[in-house]
Amino acid sequence: MRVVDLIEKKQAGLALSQEEIKFLISGYTDGTIPDYQMSALAMAIYFQGMTEEEASYLTMAMVKSGDEIDLSAIHGVKVDKHSTGGVGDTTTLVLAPLVAACGVPVAKMSGRGLGHTGGTTDKLEAIPGFSVTLSPQDFIDHVNRYKIAVVGQSGNLTPADKKLYALRDVTGTVQSIPLIASSIMSKKIAAGADAIVLDVKTGEGAFMKTLADAEALAHTMVKIGHQVGRKTLAVISDMSQPLGYMIGNALEVKEAIQTLQGQGPEDLTELCLVLGGQMLLAANRVTSLEEGKALLQEQIDSGRALEVFKTFLANQGGDTRIVDNPDLLPQARYQIPFLAQSTGLVSQWVADEVGVAAMMLGAGRETKEDIIDPAVGIELCVKVGDPIQAGQPLAILHSNREDVSEVLDRLSAAVTIADSAQAPALIRKIIVE
Ligand code: URA
Ligand code: CA
Repeated sequence: MRVVDLIEKKQAGLALSQEEIKFLISGYTDGTIPDYQMSALAMAIYFQGMTEEEASYLTMAMVKSGDEIDLSAIHGVKVDKHSTGGVGDTTTLVLAPLVAACGVPVAKMSGRGLGHTGGTTDKLEAIPGFSVTLSPQDFIDHVNRYKIAVVGQSGNLTPADKKLYALRDVTGTVQSIPLIASSIMSKKIAAGADAIVLDVKTGEGAFMKTLADAEALAHTMVKIGHQVGRKTLAVISDMSQPLGYMIGNALEVKEAIQTLQGQGPEDLTELCLVLGGQMLLAANRVTSLEEGKALLQEQIDSGRALEVFKTFLANQGGDTRIVDNPDLLPQARYQIPFLAQSTGLVSQWVADEVGVAAMMLGAGRETKEDIIDPAVGIELCVKVGDPIQAGQPLAILHSNREDVSEVLDRLSAAVTIADSAQAPALIRKIIVE
């Protein structure tokens, strides 16, 4: 096989075979196929797309490029959830104990966030003492005994995706639905998932800005899942404004605890019930989304979900006293209000911009080397559709620096106050097969 022939084949809009895709991915991973040829191929895929079969072959070729986590020693269906990324997305911290409380194993490998706010492991590490490092055996034992463990990513998972994603990033080929879909699915499958629930975000704070693109991505991932024998369900949810009220690591832990206590924000709670319901459905624990949501609500109402969260913290060295006394979480030195300049209704709270503002305070990483400050972040006081009076706080900045003038400028650009406003629908679409 010659790489140039395969580039030309794709360029002409023809489908590559499984053998051809395997050849390209293994050659690229071991360095025998150079970046310039792979970037030409990525550009051809960008313009010509891929069939479902091609995207599935690509997914599995990337899975096979590195280590695969073997979770077969864990009893039951291992369901993983993936969110395409958002601002203040605290769902994993709520979902993991909630789903585990229903008896479904949650064996989660989570990455660090490169972006506005931390990833799940950064949020968990805001809890004093909590460790995301467990030996493989302890990881499996915890999940079998307690139904829950969350560890940081280790091992050499999907090196082909790492290399290809970095290449796409500098060659204008990130925004290709089959490439995004196979990138995400390969990572979940390599991490050992039997079934996958996807939260595809749409709106200003999301990777997919339009509903049509988000739907296309969701359908492509669901089809890949089916092709490779993993039950896959998806939810398309709004990310035009941040989820919940808190953006920042310790702040989001606090918000997750409130949600597990049944006192969380309406949007975060609803999204967790829908995603959790999909996870129970994917694990064959329930037979309908409604039944799943009801079972999850019971875990909140009875206090069981909160108990599981405490056990989970204790298992991984975390200070469980934070559950009843969140003031024991890291706290920022300054709490600075961001005041409204006019009276009206909040018509926009651009998620992306709020995320950047949180990152400027130190809640996220701009580069891989940046160190996150767990205490800092932004607490919204209002959401889209809410009334606001001039001089009243739109948000509270939790900062360890006194001078936050640049952050306030950023937030001013993020918010719009108008005469009319409508809260966006949170759940745009549910894909259950
Ligand atoms: N996220 C991923 O993991 N991969 C992509 O290609 C895009 C977003
Ligand atoms: Ca939040």
